[in-house]
Amino acid sequence: MKTTLLLASLAIAAVASAAGTTYLEENFTDSNWEDRWTVSSAKENLGKFALSSGTFQANKETAQGLQTTEDHRFYSISTPFASVADNSKEDLIVQYTVKQEVNQECGGSYLKLLPEGFDAAKFDGDSEYAIMFGPDVCGPENRNLLSKKQYPVPKDSKTHLYRLTVHPDQKFSLLIDGELTEDHLEIEKNWDVYAPRTIPNPEETKPADWVDAKEIEDPTHVKPANYDQIPRYIPDPEATQPEDWDAESDGDWEAPDIQNPEFEEFVPRFIPNPAYKGEWKASEIPNPEFKEDADLAHYKIGGAGLDLWQVKSGSIFDDIIVTTDAAVADKYLESWKANFKAEGEIVEALDAQLKAKQEKEAADAAAAATETEKKDEEEKDELDDEEEETPVATEAKEPETETETAPEPEAEAVPEVVAEEVKETKEATPEVVAEVVEEVKETKNAAEPEVVVEKVVKPETEPEVVVEEIKKAEEKPKVADKKEEEKKESEAKHDEL
Ligand SMILES: *[C@@H]1O[C@H](CO)[C@@H](O)[C@H](O)[C@H]1NC(C)=O
Repeated sequence: MKTTLLLASLAIAAVASAAGTTYLEENFTDSNWEDRWTVSSAKENLGKFALSSGTFQANKETAQGLQTTEDHRFYSISTPFASVADNSKEDLIVQYTVKQEVNQECGGSYLKLLPEGFDAAKFDGDSEYAIMFGPDVCGPENRNLLSKKQYPVPKDSKTHLYRLTVHPDQKFSLLIDGELTEDHLEIEKNWDVYAPRTIPNPEETKPADWVDAKEIEDPTHVKPANYDQIPRYIPDPEATQPEDWDAESDGDWEAPDIQNPEFEEFVPRFIPNPAYKGEWKASEIPNPEFKEDADLAHYKIGGAGLDLWQVKSGSIFDDIIVTTDAAVADKYLESWKANFKAEGEIVEALDAQLKAKQEKEAADAAAAATETEKKDEEEKDELDDEEEETPVATEAKEPETETETAPEPEAEAVPEVVAEEVKETKEATPEVVAEVVEEVKETKNAAEPEVVVEKVVKPETEPEVVVEEIKKAEEKPKVADKKEEEKKESEAKHDEL
């Protein structure tokens, strides 16, 4: 995102001025601002302005300014000066403050000074203006990039003060938040207001003997004497003629070439050319097109306006001063300074509050996470304990009778099917039993575990083996949270038994 401060100028013929005149002092402390400011009727659906002191402020009364209230809107509003301003003889100060509590993604907050006789009803982006001054924040392109230099726009929720002083001698000064950012810089250095003062002499041509080769080959760097005698490639001495080579049809056999290990490439070395005269340039002569304008940036200004596009609204404009009387501008600068300090303290306090809140939230979240972790850990431990317990229990049970010792398969099976399957098998090997048990478990229909086990176990099969296999098969689909339940069930059964 680029941010710039911009200023455009439009030369208008000027005449004498009144010294120390304040043309506009708008601090929006009263409620009659609408009598002084005219909303343009050039466009429909313009964004609305309203008085606001913002969500935080050092002094509610003085903080009150004119705020843009609707996102994604054009704004056009203007106010006429009491008398026409003329800055041809003295410094003209344009100063105002903007507070942008919500970060401006893309929007202008600049002021336009409008020529004498401007039409407030028709005021819009195409209207002529004398000076356009203030931040224009938009990324990645600046739509109004007129100033050659980019000035950083302060980006925080506090009130910022911008002052442009247009000096009558074609210079300007820039004050941002009381800091002198530009001091009597020539206007023509920052804006292409003039054709270049000089141009390269078109009559001149480059002299024939002009040396413009920057580098030459190093004369001390010579090729080794035998360099050209050593070939880069040589026939491969290892190669031999293939046995099936037929000289008659294939021609005389020749060994293929390989890189000659003796060969070292010579690359000429370059050194700076002692005769180099530099890049040839025609000498500069005065540009016949250049015409100094004695009245550059001398204006007759009839009013001021805000003509903006804003993606994010909420800019509060205040203390708009247009004057040739520095004392008036300084009075507002001083009150801004005090205000800025107070706002800084408020923002700091708010930030501290927010930080404390965030830290508390983070701490609470961390505590909750630890609690959950601890719980999980405990649950896991319980499960681990069970896993350790189960085999012990099985071992202990093994010597008991089949029906008693076999851990119950999940009570979902069709006994008939199991019985059928087992019967078909001559010998119920552990594998077969396990397979059948798997099937039994997959079957959705419920059955008495005892029945299943009974039917699965054939006399030929060792009970221990059956138990082992059933257990193995059973363990696979077990889900952690079922374990406890099962354990309790089985314990309960054993208790009953
Ligand atoms: C606001 O501006 C008026 C002139 O328009 C001035 O008389 C008044 O003192 C200003 N208020 C403040 C707080 O500077």
